[in-house]
Amino acid sequence: MQQVTVIVIGAGQRGKTYSNYALDYPEKLKVVGVADPNTVACRQLQKLHNVPEDRLFDDWTKVLAQDKFADAVIISTPDQLHKDPAVACANAGYHILLEKPMATTEQGCRDIVEACKRNNIILSVCHVLRHYPPMRKIKELIDSGLVGDIVNIQHTEQVGYWHFAHAFVRGNWCREDTSTFSLLAKCCHDVDLLSWWMSKYRCTGVSSFGSLFHFRKENKPPGSSSRCLDCKVETKCCYSAKKLYIDIYKMGNSDWPVSVICNNPSIESITEALQHGPYGRCVYDCDNDVCDNQVVSMRFSGGRTATLTMVAFTESVGQRIVRVFGTKGEINLSAAGDVRHYDFLSQQTVDVTVDFPASSARVRSSSLGHDLADFYLMDNFVHALAMKDPSIIPASAEDILTSHLLVFEAEKARRQSRVISFEEH
Ligand SMILES: NC(=O)c1ccc[n+]([C@@H]2O[C@H](COP(=O)([O-])OP(=O)(O)OC[C@H]3O[C@@H](n4cnc5c(N)ncnc54)[C@H](O)[C@@H]3O)[C@@H](O)[C@H]2O)c1
Repeated sequence: MQQVTVIVIGAGQRGKTYSNYALDYPEKLKVVGVADPNTVACRQLQKLHNVPEDRLFDDWTKVLAQDKFADAVIISTPDQLHKDPAVACANAGYHILLEKPMATTEQGCRDIVEACKRNNIILSVCHVLRHYPPMRKIKELIDSGLVGDIVNIQHTEQVGYWHFAHAFVRGNWCREDTSTFSLLAKCCHDVDLLSWWMSKYRCTGVSSFGSLFHFRKENKPPGSSSRCLDCKVETKCCYSAKKLYIDIYKMGNSDWPVSVICNNPSIESITEALQHGPYGRCVYDCDNDVCDNQVVSMRFSGGRTATLTMVAFTESVGQRIVRVFGTKGEINLSAAGDVRHYDFLSQQTVDVTVDFPASSARVRSSSLGHDLADFYLMDNFVHALAMKDPSIIPASAEDILTSHLLVFEAEKARRQSRVISFEEH
């Protein structure tokens, strides 16, 4: 297989995770350039991948000021910085692995897909769950007709109480004006799964309710301070930044989420970050405005229905619960990733075997994100490029555009408190 070369644009958490693939499979992928204004992040990737000095850039635009020097780019910049680099890279002839959401506006999403089509670019959007074997198994079982005609799917995204506080109250995704609304930031994966599982049917309408229920100033406990490190009631707060970062570090975790708040975690650097940075703020005294719970109801042709629930207040972090109801049986995915089938005729429950392809055997623990889905996503992207076969990527650019547009419609429905019908479109 021909080695693929890639430039990492945005050397943060996600950029690092995806480029680990090149460390595990150096014969398949090589990182030949890095762009990031954060010099520490940039240098870390340079060192790991032996990137030449003249291929380090402090901004994505500077990559494009050079003649094309790689097959592809990984665009893992913040949400609002996806569209411009994606369109420019497509115009420059780079194949693209693009972090989700594709863009924070409908038009931005359309522009990316149009630029990729016009330039014959292979585009993979990081809807990692499409690559996760249990989700693929559900698709296979649905399409096989095992449970008859599909009537309804219930899908729950359990964000995790501390994860929500970290990312959506104190962190990068806490405000719509600097990032985007939480349904797009967190659940474009999930709407995409529903639309993929239901792909035989047309979505004919959507409605949605949701709110920022809890992380509000009026819920601030009496006697609390605006920062956890000098808060008198911190020990009684499950969202305490001290518990989330310092106590976890003391237990031996210097990876995510601790690695997000400072470049080189130590007690001193974490304390400094909590004293002065955004992650030390009281969760009831931040400038956050995104929903912490939202439901989306979807209607499909023939009267089928599906619901998505996104909720912050869960023990589990990121694990989805799925129930597929067909006319002849049920398929369930538990939070632990187990797939079960119940058959109405035999009244038997069967544990369904899910294969995790063997090529993952060399993957180091640092590349195992999203229960290996990050690895499969990269593996499919690299193989699609090496074989010049975009069909290896399980979702086409149009599929992903369609599911992003559905997210925008669902959010419109929530804001306007109405049902949006697509029947006339
Ligand atoms: N697919 C998933 O499951 C998943 C999970 C988490 C995050 N994400 C998405 O991935 C993206 C990156 O998230 P992250 O957690 O890695 O964030 P991050 O902040 O760790 O990384 C983003 C990096 O982009 C860099 N950057 C900013 N401006 C730049 C520019 N002009 N040129 C080049 N680099 C620039 C930042 O300095 C930073 O290092 C976001 O869009 C996020 O929503 C996706």
